[in-house]
Amino acid sequence: MITYFEKLKALSKRAYASYSNFHFSAICLLKDGSKVPGVNVENATYTITICAERTALSQVYALCYRKTDIAKFYLYTDSKQLSSPCGMWQQFLWELVDQQIPIEIYNQKGESYILTIKNLLPYAFTKEDLQ
Ligand code: THU
Repeated sequence: MITYFEKLKALSKRAYASYSNFHFSAICLLKDGSKVPGVNVENATYTITICAERTALSQVYALCYRKTDIAKFYLYTDSKQLSSPCGMWQQFLWELVDQQIPIEIYNQKGESYILTIKNLLPYAFTKEDLQ
């Protein structure tokens, strides 16, 4: 049986990371068992690069799934240390998933840790702030 670590590692090879050469992958596991992938996609203008996690989560919504359909997020960074997901995704995620959803983050050695969006970003900017 292929583990999520192996799936993520293989998926990270699809990243378009010509500039940073930093390969990041994400899999969003849905409650119906579907697995929606994402990789980082870079651009010569640098700033419009999209992270692996936003690629996956946007695809989840495009497939017509919503926050209550999401079971878990798996992330992978092709690095020796354990990294934290980028702040842009944390803000994006805050609004689009339930707060107790586990996020498991792997490094290239297969080490991982699990946390929630509430651990990562306790004080997000939300739609209530727009009132
Ligand atoms: N990257 C992600 O895809 N997700 C993160 O959480 C952190 C960084 C990507 C963006 C860029 O293509 C490369 O990693 C280096 O920052």
